[in-house]
Amino acid sequence: MLAVAILAAGKGTRMRSTLPKVLHKLNGKSILSRVLDTCFELNPDKVFIVVGHKNDVIQKSFENYKFANKINFVLQDPQIGTGHAIQVLSKELKTFKGKLLVLNGDVPLIESKTLKGLIKFHDKKQADASIITTTLENPFGYGRVFLKNDQIDKIIEEKDCNNDQRTNKVINSGIYCFNYKNLKNTLTKLTNNNSQKEYYITDAIFLLNKSVSYKIINSDEIKGINNRIQLSECEEIIQKKLTKMHMLNGVTFINPSSTTISEDCEIGTDVVVECNTHIRGKTKIENNCIIGPNTFIESSFIKENSIISNSSIYNSEIMENVRIGPYSHIRPESKISKNCKIGNFVETKNSYLSESVKVNHLSYVGDSSVGKFTNIGAGTITANFDGLKKHKSIIGENCLIGSNSVLIAPIKIGDSVTTGAGSILNKKVENNSLAISRVKQVNIKNWKKSNL
Ligand code: UD1
Ligand code: CA
Repeated sequence: MLAVAILAAGKGTRMRSTLPKVLHKLNGKSILSRVLDTCFELNPDKVFIVVGHKNDVIQKSFENYKFANKINFVLQDPQIGTGHAIQVLSKELKTFKGKLLVLNGDVPLIESKTLKGLIKFHDKKQADASIITTTLENPFGYGRVFLKNDQIDKIIEEKDCNNDQRTNKVINSGIYCFNYKNLKNTLTKLTNNNSQKEYYITDAIFLLNKSVSYKIINSDEIKGINNRIQLSECEEIIQKKLTKMHMLNGVTFINPSSTTISEDCEIGTDVVVECNTHIRGKTKIENNCIIGPNTFIESSFIKENSIISNSSIYNSEIMENVRIGPYSHIRPESKISKNCKIGNFVETKNSYLSESVKVNHLSYVGDSSVGKFTNIGAGTITANFDGLKKHKSIIGENCLIGSNSVLIAPIKIGDSVTTGAGSILNKKVENNSLAISRVKQVNIKNWKKSNL
């Protein structure tokens, strides 16, 4: 039997935030949801999250979590230490005789294969407690692990160490596997005789007969987040891992450290990701695209051979061989078909552009559909909002929409239509017509400024 306890009741004071620490996000997912995802990969029999500070906010944020019905939130009030956090579980675990895996809610990069290794090691050693430890060049802030005869003798918190003890670089990850029956007996003996006046779970180690160290080499996995510097360090670890993986799969990053990508994105081979490009959500980019520089893409699909520079794209579909940018804004539900060209200062939203449409300069195409090979002249605006409702503009194929046109929706423009530059149109235009609505030019000959 395996029970998992995730400690997440602390105030997270060092974050200096109104948001509970464990709800801060790392690559789009909260710190705590990362720990939970990993925990469920172990198929545990019971899962507890110990909550306290802002517990209502934390619990609410997991209402729609995929395993929400398997999580037991247990309240710790007041929050007087990690040992006390385990003490509050004793009611829930009254008859429990298996292993208790304790995870810190603020150590999010731990991988399930490491936890499986810990559990296996724990079984093999028949230990009372097995603890993941590592050696850190800069161990500041972590509890230091002191060994004696191949076992862990004690763990001393940074704040409680003397100068000599502080030089020890072997640190406690905050991840433990306990034989719960034996741990239970020590929990009642914990004291708060330390600099923080808290009941430490680490003191149980000293009281148990056999505590062993499961030493890991990759210290990135057990990085704890106590402040925003450590939050950004964890983000960097995730980003480095992701860009490395994509590079090994055939993606070129011109400057990986200026790029951020989500774990859910797929990138094809021979894609070049230029500097300062950010790819978020469930985005898929097919082969041979050039993305960036200075580009933001969220939850979108980009088909092969497309080039996107200095632009933002949200929840949209871009078919093959499309050119977007510089400085285009492709808003949600835009579908841009193959061979289209969207140029500078063009905004699209909820619109379908058939193949080979050009919208090259300074235009707004919203709630519209545009037929193939149509050219939308510079400065064209689909006026889709009447102050109350949004309306559609339907533009046929092979049209030439003159520069600086305003198409007042709802409007339907047939195929092979030309509209005069500067026209304001609000009536249907039949196929093969020229639509023009503007004041005729008047030239006044030999005109001079009057002397006032
Ligand atoms: C803890 C360990 C330290 C270890 C480090 C690893 C103790 C005493 N120290 O220190 O040895 O090196 O983690 O990251 O355990 N929490 C509660 N209830 C409380 C207090 C804390 O649930 O009353 C939760 C926090 O929300 C957090 C976790 O326990 O998720 C760790 O608490 P934190 O205060 O961050 O401990 P550290 O000082 O990091
Ligand atoms: Ca911590």
